Amino acid sequence: MKEFDISGKVALVTGGTRGLGRSISLQLARAGATVHAGYFNNETAAETFRKEVAEAGIRCLTFKANLMTSSGIQACHDQIASGRLDALVYNSATGVHKPLHDLTQRHLATVWQVNVGAFFDLAVKVLPLMQPGARIVAISSEGAHRAVDHYGAIGSSKGALEALCRQMAAEWAGRGIGVNVVAPGLLRTDTLAALPDSERRVQAEAAQSPLRRLVSLDEVARVVHFLCSAASDGIVGETIVVDGGKRVSSLSV
Ligand SMILES: NC(=O)c1ccc[n+]([C@@H]2O[C@H](COP(=O)([O-])OP(=O)(O)OC[C@H]3O[C@@H](n4cnc5c(N)ncnc54)[C@H](OP(=O)(O)O)[C@@H]3O)[C@@H](O)[C@H]2O)c1
Repeated sequence: MKEFDISGKVALVTGGTRGLGRSISLQLARAGATVHAGYFNNETAAETFRKEVAEAGIRCLTFKANLMTSSGIQACHDQIASGRLDALVYNSATGVHKPLHDLTQRHLATVWQVNVGAFFDLAVKVLPLMQPGARIVAISSEGAHRAVDHYGAIGSSKGALEALCRQMAAEWAGRGIGVNVVAPGLLRTDTLAALPDSERRVQAEAAQSPLRRLVSLDEVARVVHFLCSAASDGIVGETIVVDGGKRVSSLSV
């Protein structure tokens, strides 16, 4: 089915060498895309990723860029040497896990800069590289839709990210560019492991999900793949929730 085919496409995945971004980069590259996977400062993860890619024989190039700086945004643009970008996946994020009364404007400014401001700068920067049929997919989270413990800074940034994507989707549909959001449930990544109560969160998430487990990174990556393909042409400005049914269910059996 050619509508699902993304072979020969050029994709840029931010935060693309570890965690969910790694799974997205590998998914798109295994499907035949040339993937440019950006990272910020985790050299160890980037090196591991490079070895994995070399062993798999897929086309996945890594590059370092701090998206909080204009030179980092420029580096993303310049990385696309072919001058044509078919898919931008904005997966980078940062966070400060504190209750609102312990947050400062500085915390908010940093989180919002990486999670929303840099996405805006990058999307506008690479827009001239995108032809009709190109896609933008941003990664959000549950906190965009409801209050989550110690998640005020991140959740509010993700809410803004989704609103911005809806606006982009409407404004850029006329250019033939599709913009959508994927909002995963809790994922087993380094970020989760670093939280002091990570196992409690995993148990709670699994208990609230009809699947009785967390969704996997690959399950989320496959939805991103779909949104990067022509098969998703009719989906415009939507947020696709991939949380195993937690959002739509309150069943206890
Ligand atoms: N983990 C979860 O439970 C969960 C649940 C729902 C949604 N999400 C979302 O899924 C996405 C991936 O989450 P994750 O847990 O895999 O990873 P993460 O810890 O949130 O980090 C994502 C990536 O962002 C990059 N990054 C951070 N600051 C940056 C900057 N200034 N410039 C460029 N890149 C920067 C990091 O680069 P380095 O590798 O160099 O550090 C990292 O690869 C995020 O958008 C997150 O909000 C996560």
